[in-house]
Amino acid sequence: MKFDRAPSTENRGLDGTVPPPEIDLNIPSVARAYDFILGGKDHFEVDRRASDALYAAVPETGDLARSGRDLIRRTVKHLVADVGIRQIIDIGSGLPTVGNVHEIAHRVDPSVHVVYVDKDPIVLAHGRALLADEERTTVITADIRDPDAIFDNPTTRDFIDYDKPYAVLAVSILHHLHDEDALVTAEALKARLNPGAYLLLANFVDDDEPRAKELERAFLEGGLGTGRFRTWAELRRFNEGLDLIEPGLVYANDWRPDEETPVDSAVHTLFAAAMGRKR
Ligand SMILES: C[S@@+](CC[C@H](N)C(=O)[O-])C[C@H]1O[C@@H](n2cnc3c(N)ncnc32)[C@H](O)[C@@H]1O
Repeated sequence: MKFDRAPSTENRGLDGTVPPPEIDLNIPSVARAYDFILGGKDHFEVDRRASDALYAAVPETGDLARSGRDLIRRTVKHLVADVGIRQIIDIGSGLPTVGNVHEIAHRVDPSVHVVYVDKDPIVLAHGRALLADEERTTVITADIRDPDAIFDNPTTRDFIDYDKPYAVLAVSILHHLHDEDALVTAEALKARLNPGAYLLLANFVDDDEPRAKELERAFLEGGLGTGRFRTWAELRRFNEGLDLIEPGLVYANDWRPDEETPVDSAVHTLFAAAMGRKR
């Protein structure tokens, strides 16, 4: 088995962090496993074991996660530099890692407001520490399945003026929802957007690739819950009703690639993205 990085067997964070008592060390967390895969330090043995199952199915799992981060870099840069967006809500933001949305946006314009949203309270804990000196960026705990709880949250309302243009990112999150929730959630999100708002959706795609099924099984059996690869038809339905900006719904690395985008990724066909504008 090939690993991007050697898993540690100690039941503590890589920087020696002892897990807070409220964390159940028998249950892996997607946010922490993703942090491990991206080379972060906020994960525990249970998360590393769950990640091992993903690496066993697809050794290039790290490339898949990095494709997601690179998509975020390109789309946020485009939204801020080219479209003129100055407010972003990043749902399922994950643990702060390299190239966070507010850092990308602030490189173009330091006045951009960013609200990070995640259902995992560990994201709030780390986000608060990271963002202690940040006046234009905040983090809340909420579930994407309840968009009202996100958009009506008093903190979100303090940071985002819905009368002005804004963008919502939901990268690598809908594929963690069960079938009965995913489409309903996409519809509810779109219904909640103001006309002119942008929505970025990026998800695992099942392109009849045997590795899609293997990775899906690894998510389930490795304890991470769900990681459902969806067909192009299903992904198109997620985006229905939006005016997709060029190039539409495509493999994520084909979405306006630049000189830093991995062009020959071994997992190119496992991940797709589209960004659209509410009519
Ligand atoms: C794979 S990570 C993606 C992180 C980041 N968006 C990226 O692409 O780099 C998925 C994140 O979604 C969060 N998540 C999963 N289900 C969620 C839900 N129902 N509501 C809010 N966040 C959720 C997880 O806690 C995790 O942090």
